[in-house]
Amino acid sequence: MTQTVPVPQGLPMERDAGPFDPPREITRLREARPVSPMLFPDGHEGWLVTGYDEVRQMMADTRFSSRQDIGILHVPYETPGMPVQTEPSPPTPGMFVAMDPPDHGRLRKRLTGAFTVKRMKQLEEHIVEVTERQLDAMAKLTPPIDLVKEFALPVPSLVICELLGVPYEDRESFQADSAQLMVRDQTLEEKMAAFIGMNTFLTELVTRKRETPEDDILSDLGRHEDLTIEELAGAAFLLLFAGHETTANMLALGTFALLEHPEQLAELRADAALLPGAVEELLRYLSVADIFFRYATEDLELGGETIPAGSTVIVSLLAANRDPRRFENPDALDLHRNARGLLSFGHGIHQCLGQQLARIEMRAGFEGLLRRFPTLALAVPADEVRLKTDMNIYGVHALPVTWTK
Ligand code: HEM
Repeated sequence: MTQTVPVPQGLPMERDAGPFDPPREITRLREARPVSPMLFPDGHEGWLVTGYDEVRQMMADTRFSSRQDIGILHVPYETPGMPVQTEPSPPTPGMFVAMDPPDHGRLRKRLTGAFTVKRMKQLEEHIVEVTERQLDAMAKLTPPIDLVKEFALPVPSLVICELLGVPYEDRESFQADSAQLMVRDQTLEEKMAAFIGMNTFLTELVTRKRETPEDDILSDLGRHEDLTIEELAGAAFLLLFAGHETTANMLALGTFALLEHPEQLAELRADAALLPGAVEELLRYLSVADIFFRYATEDLELGGETIPAGSTVIVSLLAANRDPRRFENPDALDLHRNARGLLSFGHGIHQCLGQQLARIEMRAGFEGLLRRFPTLALAVPADEVRLKTDMNIYGVHALPVTWTK
């Protein structure tokens, strides 16, 4: 195919087109060669998939294996000390996001009942209450404050802790470990230390729950006798981690994006009926969970290219969600858009288990925040907001905001 397109050396990360837009290099590649070879920093050759159709096709095809990492530690070739992977890794017990069928389905099916649209609808009122309480606490503070610390992180964290039955009082330890796991450039030792910290905490917790079950998801999971303690701890790890890092970043980055689009923000404040669509559009536009890894188990055709067996393949969901072949004027935030078909929650058998929960949290979160703080504004110039270009899930490290009391 196109020989003129230079092969990227490492994954382009710098947000040189603006804080909400894909790196320019990624956009350029998507237009020129949506399935492109790329070189990892260690010289190992892999592939980068950026086109909407190609990403969707790939995520629907389990011959692109998810056994590409050790749990959520993944990012091989980027982590110093992590050996080059030449075959699918043995799955970490319980961590079904990194498993293929049939192991994946065996664990996931035990949890689907707990996350259905119906179950989540039943929880909605309670999630609104949790959100309101957090906003009450925030309203008592003297601005400026950090919205991440006071609102965007506590709400999803409180909700997932309660659902799983994880004591929220223990958050300092697991939030630090979980944040540590998201940092890209750190050594394997540092990642392992955070992983072991969180895993030890959760192993003790699921052991207690198996002995004395309570009314929560981890206790329910523990009732399945065929699941080992290691599997229970792994599943708990995945749920706790996925359940607060992602939504928290959406709430904070989403607020930043709305504040940077004042006309649309005014429309949203004026018409609450816009909210569900606005949440979908923010999910598409921001795609905070952007980069995912797969592993080609055989020679596979994708977008007119042949990906050889054994290749590591990276997808960019952000690039796919900004593909002009799928969404008109894709780089514009348009709260009136129909963002149906967005890939922000992935696609195929691994499609996000918590997506209904995330949607409810975001609707409650944005609705409450905008209603309670009609004069909310950034407390620093936009270019001083610290972006998470160093993390595996995108967002802001802090969002200093203010309002008139
Ligand atoms: C999987 C995104 C919130 C639990 C995924 C995947 C994406 C994603 C893209 C697919 C991963 C892959 O294909 O390898 C998001 C976003 C969220 C969010 C953008 C918030 C806005 C949540 C929440 C939970 C959750 C609140 C809480 C339980 C999971 C789990 C999986 C998953 C367990 C693995 C599913 C499987 O492998 O079958 N998520 N997620 N996520 N997500 Fe979410």
